Amino acid sequence: MRTGAKTPKVFVSRPIPEAAISALRRAGLAVAVNPSDRVLSPAELARFCREKDGLLALLTDRIDRRFLEAVPTLRGIALMAVGHDNADLAAATARGIPVSNTPGVLTDAVADLAWALLLAVVRRLPEAERFLRRGRFRSWGPLLFLGGDLKGKTLGIVGAGRIGAAVGRRAGGFGLKVIYADRRPNPALEKETGARRVSLPALLAAADCVTLHVPLTSGTRHLIGEREIRRMKRTAYLVNTSRGPVLDEAALARALREGRIAGAGLDVFENEPRVHPALRRLPNAVLVPHIGSATVGTRTGMALTAAENLIAMMRGERAPNCINAQVYNKSRLREVTQGKGYAGGRLRRGKVTQGEGYVRVT
Ligand code: DGY
Repeated sequence: MRTGAKTPKVFVSRPIPEAAISALRRAGLAVAVNPSDRVLSPAELARFCREKDGLLALLTDRIDRRFLEAVPTLRGIALMAVGHDNADLAAATARGIPVSNTPGVLTDAVADLAWALLLAVVRRLPEAERFLRRGRFRSWGPLLFLGGDLKGKTLGIVGAGRIGAAVGRRAGGFGLKVIYADRRPNPALEKETGARRVSLPALLAAADCVTLHVPLTSGTRHLIGEREIRRMKRTAYLVNTSRGPVLDEAALARALREGRIAGAGLDVFENEPRVHPALRRLPNAVLVPHIGSATVGTRTGMALTAAENLIAMMRGERAPNCINAQVYNKSRLREVTQGKGYAGGRLRRGKVTQGEGYVRVT
């Protein structure tokens, strides 16, 4: 930060890769980190954020109107996640607070995990591994742990954005055809993989493996429920690495128990960290604790991206991955080229506060 300017204070809601904390400190920010490696309650988060200018938050933090009202000093929030259903963007925008996410950097890690789950459930890896660890492996057996086949089958991608498309690109290696359902066509995916865009009902009926990659919004909550699962083949597998509430867990558990679909691989759950008890008992459900982006390189990249965004916000610059860009376009917030120095001012009615690169006119 510039000399003479007030040092912006930021809070990081949980320990994250050290490289990002160092980057924040090198940028001249006063950084406080949640001392415990656990999710803070909304009241604790608000308390830790008191008098802070910025927040580096995680998908487990609830950034709602109530929180924003409790912390009126906040000028920027950088989420260390691509999904942002935990943040009320309208409320943040109304308060002139930019919010950013971390798109791109986790695409491959999540796509890899979707395939890992699919392979695990199709080839019954957790079941077979438990069997071996229990000392029950006596001999190779011609009928031991027979799973499904992938070559020549059809992969159905629900939501062909960055991650969905990356899952689709990997399908060629396993010899699967690709179909996808999305509001918008993805010509690049079609060109690269020969994928065909179909309606969601058509996808569910045709696919042997269905993988979910839509963000959680009011329109995608329980996008896949009882009726949708009933459209699937009895031999089909379902994978979810997007957000838990996109899938009706109770309906899925019933379908798995009754053998109406062959299996499911889940990285995300409706009420994390709780998992529907029926799912936990089913051998044809492979369940992992929301680890889609959990690789050293990816989590470091996500943390650095979030840090970069927070630094920009604290300098009064446009955050590179801002997801509520309207905050910059509001007539109350005009970009100018000659703005200099960080004034550290808060948006107050009737006042002009200056940042590096823009002035806010209220
Ligand atoms: C995200 O960033 O939204 C992912 O769910 C993290 O794994």
